[in-house]
Amino acid sequence: MQHWHILGAGAIGGLFANLLQTAGTPCTLLLRTDDPDLAVGTAALTLRRGDQQQTCRFSVSASSDNIPISHLLVCTKAQDIVAAIAGVAHRLAPGAVVVLLANGMGYQQQVRARWPQLDCFSGSTTEGAFREGRRAICHAGQGSTLIGQPGRVAAPDWFRTWLALPARCAWSADIDTVLWRKLAINCAINPVTALHRCRNGELAQRPQLAALVGELCAEISAIGIAAGQQRAVSNLRQQVMAVIAATADNRSSMLQDVLAGRATEIDYLTGYLLARGREHGVPAPRNAALLAAVQAVHADNLGA
Ligand code: PAF
Repeated sequence: MQHWHILGAGAIGGLFANLLQTAGTPCTLLLRTDDPDLAVGTAALTLRRGDQQQTCRFSVSASSDNIPISHLLVCTKAQDIVAAIAGVAHRLAPGAVVVLLANGMGYQQQVRARWPQLDCFSGSTTEGAFREGRRAICHAGQGSTLIGQPGRVAAPDWFRTWLALPARCAWSADIDTVLWRKLAINCAINPVTALHRCRNGELAQRPQLAALVGELCAEISAIGIAAGQQRAVSNLRQQVMAVIAATADNRSSMLQDVLAGRATEIDYLTGYLLARGREHGVPAPRNAALLAAVQAVHADNLGA
């Protein structure tokens, strides 16, 4: 039987821990040193959907334990992934399955380069979940989750467990396109909402912001095409406007980070995009200005 360990038991990590355990697959939450909400032993997590609630109990293990990990799901923020895996690397035998489910790009290559012996997979999810308290998660909107491995067409055997989850999960034979599409959409939405401190819907309602989103999409598409990602960026502006409409009341993850004074994922979103632009000689001044502005907000937060 598979036993999954979850690194980063926030809203998405907690949701998948709950889904796995509900489907009969045991899960252990991993305690990172900076996690104020968990303690070694057991923890109950309540998942709320509308007026229905379900509480699951999980064992909680310190990253520094020695018990081997065969299947690891990583749901931390993009910028924390490498450090979080380093904290459990001694427990991962060669061939251990590691699924990286986070916004952004760039950390996948860092993880594969540092731990080539691991069997690393990437994922992207549109599940809508947020923390309602230290031990409670609201599953606000059902989305779908795609998992894949660059260059791998057929799903591995372990993925049968994920197909049995009470959620929409599918294998993607083209995960690079999936990750690039999500990256492009996040680059067009997240930094603008974070800087203007607005909900996603305002990007369509305020003409100046809508125009900026259009300009960002044009630059992002040009970089995507130069990087061979035509499929990911085709009709990008329409894709972005559809996500803005579907998530109009949401505060983007980057806005939530800024409001909470946390580091943002900007280096793995716009930072990654601009690095590809430099590689291919495609300038993107609007995106570059947003990268600098979001980095300045973070520097101010640290100074405050
Ligand atoms: O990062 C986010 O907040 C989400 O990916 C998205 C799609 C922008 C919706 O808020």
